[in-house]
Amino acid sequence: MTTHSLLILPGDGIGPEVMTEVRKVIDWFQTNKGIAFDVSEDLVGGAAYDKHGKPLADETMAKALEVDAVLLGAVGGPAYDNLDFSVKPERGLLRLRKEMDLFANLRPAQCFDALADFSSLKREVVAGLDILIVRELTSGVYFGEPRGIHSDDNNPQNEGGRVGINTQRYTSGEIRRVARAAFELAKKRDNRVCSMEKANVMESGILWREEVQWVHDNEYPEVELSHMYADNGAMQLVRRPSQFDVIVTDNLFGDILSDAAAMLTGSLGMLPSASLGAPMANGRPRAMYEPVHGSAPDITGQGKANPIACILSFAMALRYSYDLGAEADLLEKAVEKVLADGVRTADLMGPEGGTPVSTSQMGDKIVEALSAL
Ligand code: NAD
Ligand code: IPM
Ligand code: MN
Repeated sequence: MTTHSLLILPGDGIGPEVMTEVRKVIDWFQTNKGIAFDVSEDLVGGAAYDKHGKPLADETMAKALEVDAVLLGAVGGPAYDNLDFSVKPERGLLRLRKEMDLFANLRPAQCFDALADFSSLKREVVAGLDILIVRELTSGVYFGEPRGIHSDDNNPQNEGGRVGINTQRYTSGEIRRVARAAFELAKKRDNRVCSMEKANVMESGILWREEVQWVHDNEYPEVELSHMYADNGAMQLVRRPSQFDVIVTDNLFGDILSDAAAMLTGSLGMLPSASLGAPMANGRPRAMYEPVHGSAPDITGQGKANPIACILSFAMALRYSYDLGAEADLLEKAVEKVLADGVRTADLMGPEGGTPVSTSQMGDKIVEALSAL
């Protein structure tokens, strides 16, 4: 029997809370579908810092490079906000992304019909919404050199005497590979890609636009390609999101645009993601799955966290890492059913009401729905 190796990194804040619910789903698939998962668990973020003095131990990094897939909860929190930059929890996550070379971050935003009235936008704007943001994840201003905070003592005009530097840097190869990922995904969807940058003010944006166009013209002429400035893109996402199918964009714009897209679905607690790299020896992409949300310190430990983003991230793992597309569909249907039944964590509670449930009860309901389908 094939075993499917999975490294779970719950992380900080609500990370461990939502991961407990994913564990229930994994157990259900093992017991009821005979799928063997070889699950190991380790520390990342503040939890790793507390034990090792750094946000990701080298052994954990090595393990992440060995397994079929990694599932990460969330990192960060106020207890770690004043740490030295190099050991902040977020550095652990960024190291995983960089060293696994996970250049394509797929952030789908789908509006479940049961939540269409709950979104802060009107039902007719979000109903049936199904867009996919492909965010470049291993380069750009997140990693570009030079970077740092330096003294600027020689500049008498500069009150305070310091300068903070980050560099937006993209190579043509980095742009082409994420563009290919976006075009490939579009071919399986509505065949449309919109590329977002700020070519009007940034040279890296000009290069981005030219290289995406190059990949289109030479390799994917059959896919419809458009270009948009990212600020207009943010506005269009809120104005008429259904105009988009696949959006491809850089690391920072993708971070911001995907949080905005989360609200089209009703809650940040709904948005899963898959971070994919080059194929491994088994033919599947190197991969880490992570909800789009963070560690949510404001609700940690209160049973309020919505585990759906993390559970749907596991569904993406079933699809992209384990070739279990039917099982992924089943899990997504179970989530849809629970929402249609009016089951709601606090973040999904609107004036129209529903059955209020805790994090743990939401996990139980999804497992019940899996058995009922
Ligand atoms: P956040 O995503 O943690 O929270 C933003 C808001 O959304 C909060 O009000 C929170 O309660 C709510 N929220 C988030 N996830 C939710 C869920 N599953 N269910 C219900 N409500 C949810 O963003 P933040 O407050 O800006 O950041 C907090 C910490 O998390 C910071 O340290 C940040 O760096 C980190 N962070 C980590 C990741 C990650 O690990 N991938 C992502 C974003 C932020
Ligand atoms: C995300 C987060 C991360 C990012 C942080 C925590 C490093 O906001 O995954 O969206 O900025 O990429
Ligand atoms: Mn983010």
